[in-house]
Amino acid sequence: LIRKESCPEAYGWRVVGPTNLSDPLQHVENIRGFKIRDDDVILAAYPKCGTHWVWEITHMLLRQTTDYEKRCKEQVMLESNGGIARCEKEESPRIINSHFVFAHLPQEIIAKKSKIIHVWRNPKDTLVSFYYHYKSVIVDSRFTFSDVLETLMADKFTTHTQFEYLQQMSKFEEDHPDHPIIHLCYEEMKKEPIKVIQELARFLKVPADDEFCRKVADACSFENMKVINQSGQKMFPAEFSVSRGPGHKNPVIYRKGVVGDWKNHFTVSENERYDDVINRAREKGLKFKFIY
Ligand code: A3P
Repeated sequence: LIRKESCPEAYGWRVVGPTNLSDPLQHVENIRGFKIRDDDVILAAYPKCGTHWVWEITHMLLRQTTDYEKRCKEQVMLESNGGIARCEKEESPRIINSHFVFAHLPQEIIAKKSKIIHVWRNPKDTLVSFYYHYKSVIVDSRFTFSDVLETLMADKFTTHTQFEYLQQMSKFEEDHPDHPIIHLCYEEMKKEPIKVIQELARFLKVPADDEFCRKVADACSFENMKVINQSGQKMFPAEFSVSRGPGHKNPVIYRKGVVGDWKNHFTVSENERYDDVINRAREKGLKFKFIY
């Protein structure tokens, strides 16, 4: 894992992005300066919270179709290698998809009051999902879940923590109370997908009757998404994979798609220690109430 101390800082945050960046700080500047269109929708999420799922749903709502053939096949992350150029070429309405903290996102989002869809998930399942993501991309992956957890608890995680991300999200809302943001909770989406899709459609101001929302929920179910995206190559073009350098593979995104898999991974004592981490984040202002 990349150590925190090896990541440069910009605007008070560690820079994370493609591992082969020659100038990470310039990369952040390029993203902060990225031109936003009036009808862009921003999809902001900490990694492994269900970004791909919400991307598919949003795409279907904006395009008013559940037909896979009509969808854009590539879910570009703005900060990925070549991401800016690919986003620039995309047809409107675009979904600008990023794991960057707000300080590193295109700053025009604020002036244009771009709609922001924020996806969040309980931090225990997120970490388990992160672990398997790493396992799937790194060829020499002898590390265990405990190794990843210990790295996080030693504050040496490869990126900002989910708690830092969420705190920054709350801070952004406090600073911009009129900004349109919808918070989609992974666990609520699992429980009542149609209801969440209806809420999202209202937020996006797109027509979506009950029948269409039901079709979107079905088309975007874990089982369907897994089959459709099985190869992984559909979402991640070759250069993305190459950009990760030798020893890296395409990630497995559609792994299990359930709530509570953390119970199969944390020991009792690890769980208690992680709860302490969460409680400390609460003392520092973390507001989100997680569903486990
Ligand atoms: P798991 O690893 O727990 O299975 P992201 O898209 O942000 O990388 O998040 C990936 C996580 O979302 C994975 O979690 C993946 O299985 C889950 N996911 C993706 N599509 C989903 C869907 N349609 N329904 C439920 N979970 C989904």
